[in-house]
Amino acid sequence: MIKFDLMNNQSEQPSHSSMTNKLPPSQLQPLSLEELLSNNQYNNSSSASNCDTLTTNLNNELESSTSVLTLMDNDFTSKLHKPIAQSVRQPHLLLNETYPVNEITNNEKNNSTESQYQIVPRITKGKYKHNDFQIMRTLGTGSFGRVHLVQSTHNYRYYAMKVLKKSKIIKLKQVEHTNDERLMLSAVNHPFIIRMWGTFQDLNFVYMIMDYIEGGELFSLLRKSKKFPVPVAKFYAAEVILAIEYLHKHDIIYRDLKPENILLDKYGHIKLTDFGFAKYCNDVTFTIVGTPDYIAAEIIQTKGYNKSVDWWSLGVLIYEMLSGFTPFYDSNTLKTYDNILNAPLKFPMSKNFSNEVIDLLTKLINRDLSQRLGNLQNGVEDIKNHIWFQEVNWHKMFKKNIETPYEPPIKAGHGDTSQYEYFEEDTEDMKQYGIMLNLGEEDPYQDAFDGF
Ligand SMILES: Nc1ncnc2c1ncn2[C@@H]1O[C@H](COP(=O)(O)OP(=O)(O)O)[C@@H](O)[C@H]1O
Ligand SMILES: [Mg+2]
Repeated sequence: MIKFDLMNNQSEQPSHSSMTNKLPPSQLQPLSLEELLSNNQYNNSSSASNCDTLTTNLNNELESSTSVLTLMDNDFTSKLHKPIAQSVRQPHLLLNETYPVNEITNNEKNNSTESQYQIVPRITKGKYKHNDFQIMRTLGTGSFGRVHLVQSTHNYRYYAMKVLKKSKIIKLKQVEHTNDERLMLSAVNHPFIIRMWGTFQDLNFVYMIMDYIEGGELFSLLRKSKKFPVPVAKFYAAEVILAIEYLHKHDIIYRDLKPENILLDKYGHIKLTDFGFAKYCNDVTFTIVGTPDYIAAEIIQTKGYNKSVDWWSLGVLIYEMLSGFTPFYDSNTLKTYDNILNAPLKFPMSKNFSNEVIDLLTKLINRDLSQRLGNLQNGVEDIKNHIWFQEVNWHKMFKKNIETPYEPPIKAGHGDTSQYEYFEEDTEDMKQYGIMLNLGEEDPYQDAFDGF
């Protein structure tokens, strides 16, 4: 069945007046950053690159009519692979990088002339301010801040507001990543990528206002279902491919593909969110970033890498969707890295793993860059033309003219948060939201977050 109304699902821009952990079980916690960094093998000996300053039950086929994914019990759960708790998969952050704060704007400028396809930021209107929004609850937390459901005090629509704490950003040396996140989000415009409406800052925090995506994380759906039937995995993979294709065409590497960062809208289409590690780069870059289970081998090797790291992660994402676990998982992050570098890629004995998908995954999760699909002469076309995707009509997929396999059970447009986990609110931090710099007072962060 073709859903023509799917093209009208974009929220309206919030009107603006003057325009302006849960802890994981201890045995599953990753090593601390200090522990990771004290191991020389994984230290980043970055050298400057020209684009980076050192630094992822349907019974019918995809086009079937009204199929709804039934949450299935898993028929294959290896005891070796316990489901991974969400909070365990924290990104790898490298602490020993330096960001000369006063060069940030220059880097932005340099980067913005790099690509012939570079997209121009869409957000041209003035800024929002804190009291344009009423905070409802927390939808997710990350390493430096949290994402709240908020309601516009003007048009009463719901949005997601990502709040990052300046002191944490500085401490974890993420100034450039944060500025890049704003830059990328303000520029991208794609049906399967989150839309950001604007940003603002106060004394202690930076804020990003995005559409609120009501259906929750693909991660939650995957953990509930344990694994997806092949057509479901294929559907999500296909939408992800179109999003990554778009980013790469505009010389953006995404670098954090994983189910936690893939949200489902009210119809069940994906929205890629979290541009915290996205980077303009049309060549080679060196930074060790990403989430351990999903990081490509060449990132760990610190020899420089290119956009094709996202195609490796796509392979890991498809593997995880079909099996419920990632191929190199270990509770010890260093062992995960060791597996990524050295362990043979093994596939579960499961009907989900046909010869076709094994062929695809072997070519995506491939340490040899001269063989990795997506990194060859025909680029993304080699992936889209792979036999596993043979029934996918890419044009229809892009137009959202293909029935989604699962529609989140939500009341659309009402700030329904039933698909999101519960997070305790950080009332201490929230008390500081909206505090501005007093006249004549010196800004402790100077111009570090100028673009917000
Ligand atoms: N636009 C959004 N709509 C709804 N939930 C969101 C949105 N953006 C983020 N979230 C939720 O917040 C979580 C953290 O946001 P993310 O941008 O991924 O931050 P981090 O960089 O800390 O991982 C996401 O995994 C998701 O659960
Ligand atoms: Mg995230």
